[in-house]
Amino acid sequence: MKLTIVRLTALSPQDKIDLEKIWPEYAPADLTLDESHRLYAARFNERLLGALRVTCNGTHGELDSLRVRELTRRRGVGKYLLEEAMRDNPQVSDWRMSAQGVEDNAVMTAFMLAMGFQAEADGWRR
Ligand code: ACO
Ligand code: MG
Repeated sequence: MKLTIVRLTALSPQDKIDLEKIWPEYAPADLTLDESHRLYAARFNERLLGALRVTCNGTHGELDSLRVRELTRRRGVGKYLLEEAMRDNPQVSDWRMSAQGVEDNAVMTAFMLAMGFQAEADGWRR
């Protein structure tokens, strides 16, 4: 099975189990999933390895809660997930990633700069 990036509009029981591992901060039932509140995930062998939230408002897109499971980091999953989520929202010209909840600011900054973002107060912009 290959790695795919999916937009989740409804959560299967297995998705909920996987999301609770990725995001212990959130109860799956509390996640808002609609046209402007989007959830993207990286799926491999029917399991989710990482996830990201996108909130769209016209040409502005707010990104938050990007997390790749620790065992699969540094294999291109985060890059693929972020790129595909942005590609799925071509109307957005102004992207911002929130630093809210980020574990290690230096790692996230290295990743975001590699993705073409610039650091700013409490986040990154592109
Ligand atoms: N150090 C330096 N550069 C890095 C690192 C690192 N640890 N990780 C990624 N990069 C850069 C590199 O340039 C890398 O390319 P290379 O491997 O060819 O050198 C490039 O980014 C792309 O890396 P990926 O493999 O695509 O990144 P990965 O899949 O590991 O995901 C991420 C990166 C998302 C930052 C991951 O480390 C992660 O999830 N960290 C925790 C983020 C976090 O704190 N999330 C919580 C938010 S709040 C919440 O979720 C509720
Ligand atoms: Mg990876």
